[in-house]
Amino acid sequence: MGIDVGGFTPLEETAFLTLYARALDSRAPRPILGDGGADRVAAGIDYDFAGLGLVSSVICQTALRTKMLDDGVRMFTAAHPDAVVVDLGAGLDDGMTRVEPPPAVDWYSVDLPPVIALRDMVLPGRARAHSVPGSLTDERWLDVIPTERPAMLIANGLLAFLNEQEIISLFRQVTGHFQAGELAFNDYGRIGWVSRTAVKLAPQRMFKAVSDQWSGYPGFKDAHWPEVWNPRLKLVEETSLAHAPEVELFPTWLRVATRFSGHIPSMARKARILRYSF
Ligand SMILES: C[S@@+](CC[C@H](N)C(=O)[O-])C[C@H]1O[C@@H](n2cnc3c(N)ncnc32)[C@H](O)[C@@H]1O
Repeated sequence: MGIDVGGFTPLEETAFLTLYARALDSRAPRPILGDGGADRVAAGIDYDFAGLGLVSSVICQTALRTKMLDDGVRMFTAAHPDAVVVDLGAGLDDGMTRVEPPPAVDWYSVDLPPVIALRDMVLPGRARAHSVPGSLTDERWLDVIPTERPAMLIANGLLAFLNEQEIISLFRQVTGHFQAGELAFNDYGRIGWVSRTAVKLAPQRMFKAVSDQWSGYPGFKDAHWPEVWNPRLKLVEETSLAHAPEVELFPTWLRVATRFSGHIPSMARKARILRYSF
């Protein structure tokens, strides 16, 4: 019998979706991320993961965007071995074990208190890994994180659950707290009514779980837009998942569709990683 998570809110439950996507990727003959730990963590939780109905596009994209964000953290911590890494809306993701940063790096995982409590039960503790329970809409989460070290912040699958004002305020808190660093997150471009309706109408429970929690945030097309919100942010890189070499590992139909979408800018933007320095 796994850990009872019956008291989780639907928002907190979104952590199970991405966890299970990584677990399923790890079981694939040719995994993209290959995080076998995710499968072990899922096995310890009493939750109907299979009932989420995860489709292969979501499994592949979740694994790939996680790998791309890991690579960004690897690059940053190699250049700044005294860095702090902050995973915003970390869920049950164990990026620190995958990335294996230099030994002096401190890694902070921030999420809502019930998710952090579960995280502390299912993930092995390790030196320099810190759990931060709290809402990212309340800037007290920053109190425990040092300000003066180079900071790498990532948000993987988080921003769709915050509204635009909350995102702007989060980004301002980040650039106000840390002296210098990078902020990287996955992004879906401008989210129009066609995408919203498609997600709402899809039969799988996972799409309902996400669309019910969607903040209504419309996203943006031009990757420079966050610079308008916050002049301290400077766009460093915009990368579409569709252009990543790992697309070769996708199932055939998805590989062909993804490569095709990579030739159409509006489609390529639907799954991208954005990286800013400050
Ligand atoms: C789709 S999950 C992604 C989790 C993790 N990044 C991953 O890749 O597995 C979204 C996460 O954001 C967290 N979250 C949503 N709103 C939040 C808030 N206001 N403060 C802190 N965490 C939040 C949820 O609890 C959930 O764990």
